[in-house]
Amino acid sequence: MAPVPQEPVSLLLLPALQLPSTPASLKSSYRSTLEALLPKLIQPNSQTISRLDIAIVLSPSYPVTQSISRTAIFPLLQTLLAQTYSLVCSVGALTKVDLDFPGGLDVRIFALEPRNEALSSSIIGKQTLSGPLVDIQTFVSASRPYNAIYSVEGETAEAHLKSVITAWQSRQGAVAPPLQRLPSGPAIAHPGGSASPYADDGPVEVHKSVAVGGTFDHLHIGHKLLLTATVLLAEPSSPASSQDKKPRHITVGITGDDLLVNKKYGSVVESWSTRQERTAEFVESILVFHTDSNSIKKTEYINEPGPNGKVVRVTYGDDISINYTEIIDPFGPTITDESITALVISGETRAGGKAVNDKRKEKGWKELEVFEVDVLDAGAGLDDSEIGDKQEKQNFESKISSTEIRRRLHEAQTSASG
Ligand SMILES: *[C@@H]1O[C@H](CO)[C@@H](O)[C@H](O)[C@H]1NC(C)=O
Repeated sequence: MAPVPQEPVSLLLLPALQLPSTPASLKSSYRSTLEALLPKLIQPNSQTISRLDIAIVLSPSYPVTQSISRTAIFPLLQTLLAQTYSLVCSVGALTKVDLDFPGGLDVRIFALEPRNEALSSSIIGKQTLSGPLVDIQTFVSASRPYNAIYSVEGETAEAHLKSVITAWQSRQGAVAPPLQRLPSGPAIAHPGGSASPYADDGPVEVHKSVAVGGTFDHLHIGHKLLLTATVLLAEPSSPASSQDKKPRHITVGITGDDLLVNKKYGSVVESWSTRQERTAEFVESILVFHTDSNSIKKTEYINEPGPNGKVVRVTYGDDISINYTEIIDPFGPTITDESITALVISGETRAGGKAVNDKRKEKGWKELEVFEVDVLDAGAGLDDSEIGDKQEKQNFESKISSTEIRRRLHEAQTSASG
């Protein structure tokens, strides 16, 4: 099946809350924002999937990103991503907006660092391969073709909006897209919440080669969270120092077609190449903030005999390469490539991390550091009365289930042909 047409793309600038941020405070602040926005963006009964990029602008309670490793900031940012994606799912369910389905929305989340004064001038505007976390200047320089920018009411959001618009207009001949402000609710004050929840636990290992695995069938928010967290973890080389130029590697293991034939609604499982292409397109959209990404991109199709021999290898500049590898067992390259040092998993696949490390120990290899992303709470931000009946609950969960997406596609096909 060809990927569904994608357009138009909108941007929502959302100020991150002060830490500690809980699902309840996020709901209080932004549920009304998303309720107003999501239904406006879709084209129901069409094949179009509209895209919404949510740029979360870090608040002063986050450590300045230039002064902290990705390993150290990982827990805070994965929580931020997971909570925001969860709220999107909940609001999608309540407002009957489909996610990652024709006639619905494709939501992608990344983070912006607004504190220029705390960054060295050698990186401002130059973090073209540092997504999903870049400075505002870099973000704007990427000239993404947004047809609308949404922001929320309030002083902080206005200040962010001003930085973005100013940067936009300083580009030669560029006209900023139309703006619109949306309502937001009050943040919940947390008693004693002014202390930074980020504890400096001393030196941590920095990761230059990270891995993730999955089926990635009909890419949905659960996959997006996992992939975004993986890209986040791979430590960018600092443009400020010529020392550390070690390139980064990301290994994305994608289950081979043979292992999926017995899946439910197997006739609408996407082929390995479709899953690989859609995964790569998503990864690029959260990693690369370059004006002309095609000019720095190289794609190789490798097909060698033996396990993990089929690879689509995408390289951006000399800074990062990504292997999209066909896997035929639960381990993939994690037990054939010693240079990998970290593995990103979801809470549901914790056992897989242990199995990988048992095998590596047997080989006398260093174990992988395992990073876990939260299981999405599709009922996040909803009252008990709203998730009261079973139907509603299923409605949330269907947004993050490939099986459910396949069931609906299967049914649509059957009714069209019969
Ligand atoms: C990626 O794939 C290439 C080609 O198969 C291989 O040489 C390399 O070791 C793989 N892994 C990494 C981390 O680059």
